[in-house]
Amino acid sequence: MRPDGEISVTRYTFGSDERAAERLKSISTVFNREARKVITPYINGQTPALALDLGCGPGYTTTMLAEVSGADRTCGLDQSAEYIRRASEAFPHLEFIRHDVTVTPFPARPDIIYARFLLSHLTDAVSLINRWLGELAPGGLCFIDEVEKVVTTVPAFQTYLDISDRIVRSGGGSLWIGSLLGQGDYADCEVLYNERDRLPVDDRDAAEWFYPNTVILWPGSELVAQHLSTDEQESIRGELLRLQNSAAGQSNITWYMRRMVLRSAV
Ligand SMILES: C[S@@+](CC[C@H](N)C(=O)[O-])C[C@H]1O[C@@H](n2cnc3c(N)ncnc32)[C@H](O)[C@@H]1O
Repeated sequence: MRPDGEISVTRYTFGSDERAAERLKSISTVFNREARKVITPYINGQTPALALDLGCGPGYTTTMLAEVSGADRTCGLDQSAEYIRRASEAFPHLEFIRHDVTVTPFPARPDIIYARFLLSHLTDAVSLINRWLGELAPGGLCFIDEVEKVVTTVPAFQTYLDISDRIVRSGGGSLWIGSLLGQGDYADCEVLYNERDRLPVDDRDAAEWFYPNTVILWPGSELVAQHLSTDEQESIRGELLRLQNSAAGQSNITWYMRRMVLRSAV
């Protein structure tokens, strides 16, 4: 929180109700597996005192971080009171604190920081990471997992992605923040890993993740109405419902994730 107790005006555009939380849970089943692969080798049998999950949402990244880091304490930070409440209920053994991650100092000094699908929603992402590095204990690790691009041959997916990009930009962010992060200058730290990872996803999974926003966000959105008629919106919803029933293993959509591991100066 800011010193006056107000949470900052950063605008997260994808909601925090039950359906939004379920959506993040489903996304985590695929993306947590990949995150573990990157994080595990850097933990190297040590027991960090504190791991912080920045922009933890309903807590599915926090529980992954707790398991893979083996930290004594793992704590999720999020600006959404609703997500903090949901996460605390779902994972009572972990800690969750309402905090705007653009505000430093953090509530405690971490040995590990993790952030996924967060920096798309924030401005000045590279300088923010630099500030986060200053929050780490000496030799602490910062893991970043953000989207660089999503490539698809399915028109309904492409339209959904174009609209999502507009929605995120209207909130001051950038959906495809990954490449900018990969090229950033990070001071007083060692860049241990900075790669673009390719992750093909089944059409049925992508359709399941995309559909909720078309019924939660799209109907009341002027921005969506400016770009898609109600018939076009309905046709995309129909196509996403159809794709949810496609065969396992059918994949016409691929995520390209920018994954970075930075170690703060000792
Ligand atoms: C797409 S969700 C990702 C949640 C989680 N990291 C995951 O991958 O499942 C982005 C989260 O960032 C949070 N968020 C956005 N801006 C924030 C800020 N300035 N401070 C703290 N949390 C923020 C939102 O409330 C939301 O829970």
